[in-house]
Amino acid sequence: MAPTASFNPPSADLPGKPFVPEWIPPAVTTEKHNFAQLKSIDLSLLDSEDSAVVNDLIQQVKVAIRDDGFLFLENYGVSLEQLHRQFALAQYLYNNINEEDKERLLFDPDTGVWSGYKHPYGFKRHRGPPDGIEQFNWYKPDWQDIPNRVPSCLHPFMDEIESFCNYLTQSVNRRLLTLFSRVLELPDDYLWNNVQSHGSPTGEGYFRHALFRPVQKQTEEASKGLRMHGHTDFGLTTLLFSVPISCLQIWGRDEQWYYVPYKPGALVINIGDTLEIVSGGHFKATRHRVFKPPVDQLNEERLSLVLFNSSVGELRMQPAYESPLIQREGCVEEQGVYKEFRNLTSQGKLVPTNRQWREIQIATCTDPTDTVRNRVGADQVLIDGKVMHQREYMGVKVVLPV
Ligand SMILES: [Fe+2]
Repeated sequence: MAPTASFNPPSADLPGKPFVPEWIPPAVTTEKHNFAQLKSIDLSLLDSEDSAVVNDLIQQVKVAIRDDGFLFLENYGVSLEQLHRQFALAQYLYNNINEEDKERLLFDPDTGVWSGYKHPYGFKRHRGPPDGIEQFNWYKPDWQDIPNRVPSCLHPFMDEIESFCNYLTQSVNRRLLTLFSRVLELPDDYLWNNVQSHGSPTGEGYFRHALFRPVQKQTEEASKGLRMHGHTDFGLTTLLFSVPISCLQIWGRDEQWYYVPYKPGALVINIGDTLEIVSGGHFKATRHRVFKPPVDQLNEERLSLVLFNSSVGELRMQPAYESPLIQREGCVEEQGVYKEFRNLTSQGKLVPTNRQWREIQIATCTDPTDTVRNRVGADQVLIDGKVMHQREYMGVKVVLPV
């Protein structure tokens, strides 16, 4: 294959663009315990003309997504300098967004989307206890109406942000879906053409600038150090940029939480529910959460950039039975949402559409600071002596580690 084009964004120095201070990555933790060892995939190898190299890459991906559901992606076409510019823009947002924009663009999760500005008071439109998390999320309508739907301080830089999202979706995610299609032994564009949503720089998914500020003692006590509940992402793939402040944790096969280590410039890829279902459980939707960082990073702010790729909203997901892998090995009934969807189907019931599946979860999201819901007898249950978070969405039971 010809080498894939690298990211080539519009210039940061165009006339009219205000000066944006550099983003200086905070210091990495010295803590070494409880860190996961994730496999790293070199995406540029997909361009190799040596079929043995490409086949080896596919095997590496196959093992990584079956074992961990999480992997690092490197050499995907965005340089460290280009990436740091995008972090600088996110930092600029939180240093410059005005109160009027925070109010005007305030999100409304009851609608089933995160679109807009999230205040640092929980995941509802009304203010709850402080959680120290601010976000701005771009969905399809936000790209289409920048003057009315994006904070004014970012207007001069939307060319760069949009081109970044286009590259991530159209190039990085597309190549990733090629790898996953090949693991399923399907045509290269199977997942891209049949499952990935299109029509905007983020399809039906969204791009996020998030800022996690250190929290007060009261918040930490209420949430027991949790910043976001254990969950799986409801979409296809999630592209998170590895950051120095260690808060992201994944649930290991040994049923313990592990921090994801920092790998400068790398993308952390996690598998969403849709991909778990379409692969018949061969790919695991990654269980992850956001937790307080190790002690030496407790007073640091954590800036995070994430692209959530969504599947086509009107589809009701089922395994890609034409996959030779699934035909040969059957589906994997081990865990998770695929198994729940299959149970519904086997009872002759309709599974939720992708849109219903993501919107119900957003609309009913609860906060880690919610001490009423987060207890056994309410949203939590004891299973084999372990406290688990149990929810039910449209007849689909979801049980996740706390
Ligand atoms: Fe997530």
